[in-house]
Amino acid sequence: MHDLRDRVVVITGATRGIGLGLARHLGGRGARLVVTGRREAGVAAAAAELAELGIEHLARAVDVADREAMVALAAEAGERWGRIDGLVANAQSFRPVMPLTEVDAADMDVLFDTGPKGTLWSMQAVVPRMRAQGWGRIVTMGTSMGLTGAPGYGPYAASNEAIRSLTRTAANEWGRDGITVNCVLPASAAHRMEPDSSPERAAAFAAMYDNHPIGRDGDPERDIAPVVAFLLSDGSRYVTGQTIGVDGGGILRA
Ligand SMILES: NC(=O)c1ccc[n+]([C@@H]2O[C@H](COP(=O)([O-])OP(=O)(O)OC[C@H]3O[C@@H](n4cnc5c(N)ncnc54)[C@H](OP(=O)(O)O)[C@@H]3O)[C@@H](O)[C@H]2O)c1
Repeated sequence: MHDLRDRVVVITGATRGIGLGLARHLGGRGARLVVTGRREAGVAAAAAELAELGIEHLARAVDVADREAMVALAAEAGERWGRIDGLVANAQSFRPVMPLTEVDAADMDVLFDTGPKGTLWSMQAVVPRMRAQGWGRIVTMGTSMGLTGAPGYGPYAASNEAIRSLTRTAANEWGRDGITVNCVLPASAAHRMEPDSSPERAAAFAAMYDNHPIGRDGDPERDIAPVVAFLLSDGSRYVTGQTIGVDGGGILRA
């Protein structure tokens, strides 16, 4: 029931971090992948790595905020493999941390265009084919900061709560088509640390795990991806509309 061999899975934002870890894990288990990113260079590098690993894939630079481009990508994948089994709506552009009083319209637009809107466009692109198959798995990405209201992350947290809300509506609307939709709240932040990060930033990062139940950051490939793989498999067929923290229990600190 957990087999992913020959499943066709779209992962948006798979050129680094969690998305790339997902691609390595899912591809390693025999899934055929559609991977995206915004920048051509990152997409080319991810494609080269997947090719090196012998993972069958289609790699395209597509902005997740571009609804027509997402539909065209799904059409290309459908033509190539005749089906789309899974979607991991992972891409979202980020903005610097700032207090609510300094947030402007551009900050809100970037986070909402690439977060809830990008997630919805990605779902709309794959759902017709999943419906026709009578089987589909969708995993969205949220953040525990949406639940805790972390200071400085207002637009990011709000946009991710909108993604969780869309996840529940999608689960209700598509459940009888054999499509499940669940939201993962990951924690895997080491790749966001620049090698030349200031000592203060490095200390702040380390402090995040001081009173953390498991006491360390998540690894995209070994900690986050196996849970996503379960949600993409037949084994999770009676789980839908749920939020699943894959954060080592970090949210318990709130
Ligand atoms: N890391 C964490 O601890 C954490 C915690 C909670 C939630 N999340 C969520 O999990 C997801 C992945 O996080 P991450 O830390 O791995 O992110 P990341 O390191 O910032 O990587 C984001 C990926 O998405 C792509 N991307 C960004 N904007 C895009 C757009 N508009 N269209 C298409 N692709 C785009 C990036 O490609 P380019 O480089 O080409 O832009 C990159 O491949 C995000 O949705 C994030 O909000 C992460």
